Amino acid sequence: MAKQIRTVGVIGLGTMGAGIVEVFARGGLTVIGVESTEEFADRGRGILTRSMDRAVSRGKLDEAGRQEILDRITVTTEMGDLAPADLVVEAVPEVLELKHEVFGRLDGIVAEDAVLASNTSSLSITAIAAPTKHPERVIGVHFFNPAPVMQLVEVIHTLRTDQAVTDAVRDLVTGLGKRPVVVGDRAGFVANYLLFGYLNSALTMVEHGHVSREDLDTAMRVGAGLPMGPLTLMDLVGLDVCHHIGDVIYGHSRSPLHAPSSMLERMVVSGRLGRKSGRGFYSYEGPGGRDVV
Ligand code: 3HC
Repeated sequence: MAKQIRTVGVIGLGTMGAGIVEVFARGGLTVIGVESTEEFADRGRGILTRSMDRAVSRGKLDEAGRQEILDRITVTTEMGDLAPADLVVEAVPEVLELKHEVFGRLDGIVAEDAVLASNTSSLSITAIAAPTKHPERVIGVHFFNPAPVMQLVEVIHTLRTDQAVTDAVRDLVTGLGKRPVVVGDRAGFVANYLLFGYLNSALTMVEHGHVSREDLDTAMRVGAGLPMGPLTLMDLVGLDVCHHIGDVIYGHSRSPLHAPSSMLERMVVSGRLGRKSGRGFYSYEGPGGRDVV
């Protein structure tokens, strides 16, 4: 188990999946990205190309380097194309049934010693591994948003994960220039469990009219030295994603710290999902960037 990892498959090319493809390709690995439809595949290609273009325009990458990275990436709608992968990272939407469908099919596609990983932000890796015949090769690799920038990767082992698999994935993450931490399989793992208690407290303060959105963000950015305040961060992550993660963690912790926020729920239902929808706690629709709404 756990041969050297040279070819990686990534299933789901949304913001996180496409970012993960970029990380692996920049690290010199061959990457096969899989999407369910041509339309989503094109969206994934678009995310990748824009990110590469930004790196070129910032002088971080030259044209030849950009092409070299893109040449390592194939995007397909056929899961069967994952056959040569030594590691597959699933980054499909956070719906357990969807993850089960993916993991159920992978056994029949990849080699017996390939590693199967999920980038879930909060669902149980043990539960995701249920349909596979080889749960000992299933592991979590949780990247943070934006994946090409954020250093941390949580490597989540279950009670069944083979130690050699954990070691191989931790070493791979280190080789990519990221910082792995190895954690057990509990809701929210480590970083999101703690982070979402904090984000939820911020929501409660705004909901109760204790502080304005901008002042709250300024307090944490300037006072606690964080790169962005909690509301700006939720807009970046996506309010629907935050809502889902909060729900999963609360389902396990039952801690008042994680209790669902009705304001967040209202925003999600009204389609205010943060940056990706143009509006969240702030508006991203105007030419000047961001406004309070
Ligand atoms: N994709 C790729 N690269 C990006 C990017 C993106 N979406 N956004 C920014 N970058 C790159 C820029 O190109 C730039 O690269 P360079 O230094 O090589 O030129 C670098 O990041 C800095 O970007 P900017 O100068 O434009 O902006 P900032 O300095 O304000 O940094 C930020 C932006 C990196 C997003 C920073 O504000 C930050 O670190 N914010 C906190 C993010 C965070 O906490 N993420 C974790 C969220 S929780 C999570 O992901 C868990 C999950 O389960 C939900």
